[in-house]
Amino acid sequence: MKISVIGANGQLGTDVCRAFRDNGDDVIGLNHEHIEISDHNDTRSTLGDIDPDFVVNTAAMHNVEECEKDPEKSFAVNGIGARNLALASQEIGFTLMHISTDYVFDGVKQSPYLESDCPRPLNVYGNTKIAGEFFVETIAEQYFILRVSAIYGESLCRAKGGLNFVTLMLKLASERDEIRVVNDEFVSPTYTRDIAKQIVHMAGSSHYGLYHGTSQGSCSWYDFAAKIFELTGSTVKLTVADPGEFPAKVPRPTYSVLENKGLQEAKLDIMPPWEKGLKSYLKTLREK
Ligand SMILES: NC(=O)c1ccc[n+]([C@@H]2O[C@H](COP(=O)([O-])OP(=O)(O)OC[C@H]3O[C@@H](n4cnc5c(N)ncnc54)[C@H](OP(=O)(O)O)[C@@H]3O)[C@@H](O)[C@H]2O)c1
Repeated sequence: MKISVIGANGQLGTDVCRAFRDNGDDVIGLNHEHIEISDHNDTRSTLGDIDPDFVVNTAAMHNVEECEKDPEKSFAVNGIGARNLALASQEIGFTLMHISTDYVFDGVKQSPYLESDCPRPLNVYGNTKIAGEFFVETIAEQYFILRVSAIYGESLCRAKGGLNFVTLMLKLASERDEIRVVNDEFVSPTYTRDIAKQIVHMAGSSHYGLYHGTSQGSCSWYDFAAKIFELTGSTVKLTVADPGEFPAKVPRPTYSVLENKGLQEAKLDIMPPWEKGLKSYLKTLREK
């Protein structure tokens, strides 16, 4: 298949390109300088020239603080950008895989969110991502929406810069005697290579629709840090941060666990437990 990956040099996009190439597909990676998804004409003409069979959109404005400061730009990229891709999918005739987020939920449920749960975003980022989902659902015919959560990979997250949670913990452990981490926020940490393999697996099916695609199981950020230190043999002292010790500038869900119910029902779920994803990632880091 001819595959285009938008956001090809991003944290997830890099692994998606690699996974499709490993699968023997013809991959055309598009970085921001190649395509502006908030511009309909640019999106239409760039993808029209390529004429792909399958497009993966990993591009987003997803720095939560930046989105809050600039809701118009956030909507232009996350909402209108998704609409432009959905329109292009109809005009050009490709299947669209659009990446979304756990931040469409408010976290109040306190048990894993299913695709059938009603979204209630707490911030501009989540609101604009759910707008993007609705555009895709109402315009495209052959589409997948894949909600991912708490992702980490070898490539840097371009929107957030710096380190991911794992590399941040490893850096702090090499600099400090004690690290304090919150124990009252829950996620399913997910390795981008596992998501990329899941996307390739889904591309071979025609079970279109909305899916959750995170690692199996969940943990608090404290548990995640503890597992990182256990697996790397670190002896740094890890303690539980007090509630409010790291105040967030923008409201976020404190419970962000997704269940891959749709993928399981379609017999498409190949996501590993989060501990296994972390082990693979640490192995890749060591080999580098
Ligand atoms: N990171 C997380 O923890 C997380 C959690 C849940 C969901 N997600 C979702 O996962 C997806 C991928 O995240 P990521 O961490 O891989 O992102 P990333 O590293 O920031 O990569 C995003 C890519 O999209 C490009 N891009 C941004 N705006 C664009 C635009 N208007 N037109 C075309 N390209 C544009 C960026 O290019 P430039 O950098 O050059 O602008 C970059 O190549 C996003 O949809 C995000 O909402 C992420």
